[in-house]
Amino acid sequence: MDTDQKMEKLIALCKRRGLLFPGSEIYGGFGSSYDYGPLGVALKMNVKNEWWRQLVQMRRDVVGLDAAIIMNPKVWEASGHVAGFTDPLVDCKGCHKRFRADHLVEAATEGMPGMHEKPIEISDLRCPECGGEFTEVRQFNCMFKTSVGPVEDSASVAYLRPETAQGIFVNFALVRDAARKKLPFGIAQIGKAFRNEITPGNFIFRTREFEQMELEYFVKPGTDEEAFEDWAKWSVEFYASLGVKRDNLRQYEHPKEKLSHYSKRTVDVEYLYPWGWGELCGCANRTDFDLKQHSKHSGTDLSYFDEATGERYTPYVIEPSFGADRAVLAFLLDAYEEIDGGRSADSNKEVETVLRLHPRLAPVKVAVLPLSKKEPLTGLAEEIRVALARRWMVQYDETGSVGRRYRRQDEIGTPWCVTVDFDTPEDGKVTVRDRDTMAQERIAIGELEAYFAEKLA
Ligand code: GAP
Repeated sequence: MDTDQKMEKLIALCKRRGLLFPGSEIYGGFGSSYDYGPLGVALKMNVKNEWWRQLVQMRRDVVGLDAAIIMNPKVWEASGHVAGFTDPLVDCKGCHKRFRADHLVEAATEGMPGMHEKPIEISDLRCPECGGEFTEVRQFNCMFKTSVGPVEDSASVAYLRPETAQGIFVNFALVRDAARKKLPFGIAQIGKAFRNEITPGNFIFRTREFEQMELEYFVKPGTDEEAFEDWAKWSVEFYASLGVKRDNLRQYEHPKEKLSHYSKRTVDVEYLYPWGWGELCGCANRTDFDLKQHSKHSGTDLSYFDEATGERYTPYVIEPSFGADRAVLAFLLDAYEEIDGGRSADSNKEVETVLRLHPRLAPVKVAVLPLSKKEPLTGLAEEIRVALARRWMVQYDETGSVGRRYRRQDEIGTPWCVTVDFDTPEDGKVTVRDRDTMAQERIAIGELEAYFAEKLA
């Protein structure tokens, strides 16, 4: 399958099966916005829950937070976003389309390191759409502005947060005291972020409204480099532990001259998307930049008194920063598989699609399929559905041949199907079919919950 086709097919599957819809579709869409459908919202929730579970639930040194999206605009002055959260923008003089100058230069340089006598400049390039010349580069601030209160004037200007991180920094002292935390400790947050991207695209890879899962891990200066190594490694392991193929993951070290203004070191995790390697998440050593800036601008001292050593210092911050939507995209791409000719004897399809999602991420864990639409099979199947639905998302499906029903579930990544057949009323057993191996096992109804709990542990 060629790579463009894979993206097209995944997007079509997402729409058809209710994972992701184009936003505001009945009005013709709205520039790279997407809505999560019934199965998409379940998948994304599972991704976020798994991130939260691994950090906030399982670790003693991480606590959670949910800060406001619209914060005091002084936050964004202190953080440097008002002055510097910009992308280089160029317009095509011919077709008037807008592009990010750095993306155009990167694309033109790609695969030709050292081939150019002088670095490529935007003035050397022409519009990829119409061949026209570009305007001069100008800096475009990517924060969305809004206005708070009934009067729209300069005093009412506020911003939609472009990263969740700042909500954590401004609450650092409150969380430390309330949760009685000593360094090193982390604060995790999941929530929406907004950026007025010049060129959103590639489905949910780059959108203007997206969700982040960010951890700010506060450490004593001098221990930051070791902590950075640990969190950069964990950032890869998060994806690998949830089934992403290691060959499709790699680390990318940002060159010193390209680091963000706050960063001492940044290492991204990249994923091999159909269009090539690209950022999946990043891990940055933000030093003491943010806490010092907020101390200075707010007048509240955000330094830390270390009781063990009697020292006072401003903690350094290690930040693994994940995009929830980008994570969903990578999990979907990695799980998507087409099997030519189908994989079961009764298949009359040329191609069958299987989403081999990690069971903990799969939107539906179990499908319950009675072999007949009549009692007593339907009643038994509904009882099983109700029992399992107390713990997991379960689907009940009684229409079509059982082969078709398996394929419908394979396509949305359901790891197990439970078939209630004509022997079930007699022996109290059902057949559990595994999505990946297609192996079938006979299990007593009373043991089903324990069986799936063990598989999902
Ligand atoms: N607090 C640091 C920070 O925000 P970032 O590299 O700008 O760093 C972190 O963003 C992650 O958020 C990215 O690795 C990506 O997964 C996600 N992300 C950033 N911009 C995005 C966008 N426009 N659409 C979707 N995800 C985005």
